[in-house]
Amino acid sequence: VTESPTGIRRMLPADLVDRGGCPFDPPPGVRQRRGQGAVQPLQLLNGAPTWMVTGLHEARAVLADPRFSADRVRYPDVTKLQPHEVEQLAAASGSGEGGTAVAPKVDSRADGMFVFMDPPEHTRLRRLLTGQFTVRRMRALESRLREIAVEHIEAMRADGTEADLVPAYALPIPSLAICELLGVDYADRAEFQERTAIALNSTTPDDERMRAGLELYGFIQGLVAAKRENPGDDILSGLVHDADPPLTDAQLTDMALVLLGAGHETTANMLGLGTFALLEHPDQLAALRADPALMDNAIEELLRYLSIIQLGVSRVAVEDVVIAGVKIPAGATVIIATPEVNRDPRHWDDPDRLDVHRPRTSHLAFGHGIHQCLGQQLARAEMKVGLTELITRMPGLRLAVRADQVPLRNEMLIFGVHSLPVTWA
Ligand code: HEM
Repeated sequence: VTESPTGIRRMLPADLVDRGGCPFDPPPGVRQRRGQGAVQPLQLLNGAPTWMVTGLHEARAVLADPRFSADRVRYPDVTKLQPHEVEQLAAASGSGEGGTAVAPKVDSRADGMFVFMDPPEHTRLRRLLTGQFTVRRMRALESRLREIAVEHIEAMRADGTEADLVPAYALPIPSLAICELLGVDYADRAEFQERTAIALNSTTPDDERMRAGLELYGFIQGLVAAKRENPGDDILSGLVHDADPPLTDAQLTDMALVLLGAGHETTANMLGLGTFALLEHPDQLAALRADPALMDNAIEELLRYLSIIQLGVSRVAVEDVVIAGVKIPAGATVIIATPEVNRDPRHWDDPDRLDVHRPRTSHLAFGHGIHQCLGQQLARAEMKVGLTELITRMPGLRLAVRADQVPLRNEMLIFGVHSLPVTWA
């Protein structure tokens, strides 16, 4: 899930990804460029031309249009082009010629990485997976989530009056939720979580991350074999036994890895950064404490306001496409600037204000179109339980350091905080 967008992250000018003075606002370079149009050309650090979308309407148009592909396996990755390929692409992009150019494709396979697939392969794998997210399973998971949240709050209290909320609370909740979903045995959880943490942390050295990634792959292969042999009441067992024709081991392993990659750090960062944002907006936090029924609203507002996926959603034009009057040539990469899209002043009044009373409107924090986040109901449940238990069971919660000392994940694909030192004394 993180492979290609992480590449794009490394190829973007810093002012498009580092949030400036305010950790909650879009990176300043993105805001500055908004004036140049809702769809605008953008040059990556390797010189490759791409297009950036900053408007809500235009972003939806791209993500709903089958002429844009999510296939990072068959279409060349713009961050990995050789200099002569960059030149060719730049020449073709600058020509301004209309026509029926079609992007070149390579013949390759992606087993179960459905997040990087187009219909019809994407449709089948996604449908199989959504069929496993049943209401019954989600209900059972929600009560487990509450237990997990309360256990971790009690552990923090038992340990003293200060903690780093990221490892103590924000990471364990989604991590244990994924374990429940995949049916990872209790005895194996520590090993599984350790490998996941290393494999998904882009600040660890590449070779270490690669090793942990391979070990994780092996672990999941073993898990698939175990579910074939001895099915449980979990999503992975369901995928193993319900699919007709059956899924291959490689497909199952990839699908489990997609869930892990997509569902772990995302929610963890919404919990960490979301708590930070509420602590920095005491009036909003007080409103939530006074009326817990506002929580569903507050979660949508935090998703919109924080937009942690940054510039991580991208597509490739398979033919020439015109969006908002701008021609995007075949083969070009389009990057959705989600933090700015979710502050589109044509759609929200006073978009830069965090307001838990704001009427709910659809935002793009979970994407749009056929790849829209498959785990969004689970993510909402995790955030609801996680934030509700935290603010009600820790009424004195506050930062243990100055706000400007909280280390930000500017260098990461998924924005958030590396740590959040808090106290409740
Ligand atoms: C896709 C955001 C939590 C599973 C996406 C996409 C976004 C997103 C923006 C679209 C990517 C694209 O179009 O290229 C988030 C955020 C989360 C979150 C902000 C937390 C607050 C989760 C969780 C799970 C999950 C908890 C799983 C258990 C997925 C999957 C996809 C996806 C499988 C790919 C769907 C497809 O390609 O059809 N997510 N996500 N996400 N998400 Fe999430």
